[in-house]
Amino acid sequence: MKRLDVCLEDVQEAYTGPVGVLWELLMGEEIHVGGWEDTERLAALAGVTGDADVLDVCSALGGPARHLAGRFGCRVTGLDATPKMVEEAQRRTARAGFSDRVRFRLGDALAMPFADASFDIVWGQDAWCYVTDKAQLIGEACRVLRPGGTIAFTDWVETGAMDDACWETLHRFMLFPYTETLDGYTMMLEDEGFAVVRFEDISSTFPSFCREYRRALTTTLREQICDRFGEDLLIAAEQGITGWIDAAERGLVGRGRWIGWKADE
Ligand SMILES: C[S@@+](CC[C@H](N)C(=O)[O-])C[C@H]1O[C@@H](n2cnc3c(N)ncnc32)[C@H](O)[C@@H]1O
Repeated sequence: MKRLDVCLEDVQEAYTGPVGVLWELLMGEEIHVGGWEDTERLAALAGVTGDADVLDVCSALGGPARHLAGRFGCRVTGLDATPKMVEEAQRRTARAGFSDRVRFRLGDALAMPFADASFDIVWGQDAWCYVTDKAQLIGEACRVLRPGGTIAFTDWVETGAMDDACWETLHRFMLFPYTETLDGYTMMLEDEGFAVVRFEDISSTFPSFCREYRRALTTTLREQICDRFGEDLLIAAEQGITGWIDAAERGLVGRGRWIGWKADE
């Protein structure tokens, strides 16, 4: 599999600088495609309830963690490797009055700082694409899940063959070391012993969301982004998102949603 020479430090640096702010401006405090409706859909499929202990892997600003705690009353732990994201998530969670149920830990998804069998649900939204070893990540998710627990996630994936130049441009813009395929994630879950109880190819809605991000970038947010980060970033972002729109419209990239069940012992 092709891989780009980006590592966790590159992602941490990006999310400490303008990148995190830019994605929040485009997507909202829940930094994934589809906003809160996507969180609701994943929660319904995962069967989130008030007595669940949920681990959100790559939790960023903690928008989904607070959403789940507010909607279902569950406990949520967010894990993220970027100190600025963890600090900001903690600050916003305290301000929203959720600190009794929502906490955040600094750490790497590839070496989760939790004991075996600590959680009922391991959760992820559009972020595992940044992780340099998806199989190890799924293995860690399985380890920290209780028997009978659920893994629930969405992610950006490759859905068609593209030439090397196109692949590199897309991945370098996003700082993804590589992206999985739809079948790749399903096989990885099965190899780890999960029963894949639900899989959805949600690629068809991906281009329209990306077009909306570009529209906002070049209209309502244009002046603000130029003032805060300069015109070069605006141009780079517009070009980068346009590359993803083109690839999505050609059926080369998309998104998937998975629900897996870890067998009872
Ligand atoms: C797109 S944001 C996540 C958005 C979040 N899931 C949401 O829906 O609001 C990506 C986040 O992944 C984190 N991240 C990337 N690689 C990581 C890793 N190996 N371990 C933990 N966090 C990581 C980054 O620090 C960043 O905050």
